Amino acid sequence: MRIIIFGPQGAGKGTQAAKLVEKLGAEHIATGDLVRAEIKQGTELGQKIQEYNDKGELVPDEIIIEMTKPHLSENESWILDGFPRNQAQAKALDEALEEINEKVDRVIGLEASDEDLVKRLSGRRQSEATGKTYHIEHDPPPEEGNEEDVGPFIQRDDDTEEAIRTRLDTYHEQTEPLKEYYGEQGILVTVDASKGIDEVTEEVMKAVGENK
Ligand code: AP5
Repeated sequence: MRIIIFGPQGAGKGTQAAKLVEKLGAEHIATGDLVRAEIKQGTELGQKIQEYNDKGELVPDEIIIEMTKPHLSENESWILDGFPRNQAQAKALDEALEEINEKVDRVIGLEASDEDLVKRLSGRRQSEATGKTYHIEHDPPPEEGNEEDVGPFIQRDDDTEEAIRTRLDTYHEQTEPLKEYYGEQGILVTVDASKGIDEVTEEVMKAVGENK
């Protein structure tokens, strides 16, 4: 199954994608993770895109499309998280799938208010060891030294108030209109993501025809 998990920053795309991956055995293609991995490796490309990431701006389309494309044909089943974010990327995705005679089966649109999203992102912590995401209130990281995840649990460089606002503005301007695009194709299912993590997971599983 080819699924796009769609929604504003902090809606829980990464959190819910991890649950879908576990349930469906699909590959998690998260463009934000691809960007951070490139930056961490310190490549020339990584240095070029770091500034966009840290300011909360979109990485230029041609770069992000080149980074994402190879992953689309590597696996039959995937959860695409963070892509597409504008019309040009949606078109590039359609063309890439046409080349391999495939299409997107479902788009899950997570919805929550900007106020909730800012609170969630400010409380997000990420494990440096495993990359797993936590929240200081809703899903606290284990005590440091826990065998499953040793941490440290750090704040992302783009989880500052200023960068969060920029990311949300960009979402409303460029990404949100894609809901209409996928709605017209009849493959969009919207989910109220303002509820607790487990309740949202239940709705997400229903949207892909699975029981939690
Ligand atoms: P990316 O990593 O994709 O960041 P993002 O879009 O800002 O999305 P987030 O990871 O912040 O949100 P999420 O919805 O995954 O939330 P999460 O599950 O972590 O991209 C980073 C950067 O890379 C971009 O700014 C851009 O520069 C570049 N980039 C990436 N893709 C690109 C593209 N296609 N084009 C151009 N540039 C691109 O949850 C957030 C927090 O809330 C966590 O702490 C979690 O524990 C908590 N939480 C989750 N669900 C709930 C719930 N139901 N209740 C309470 N708390 C919850």
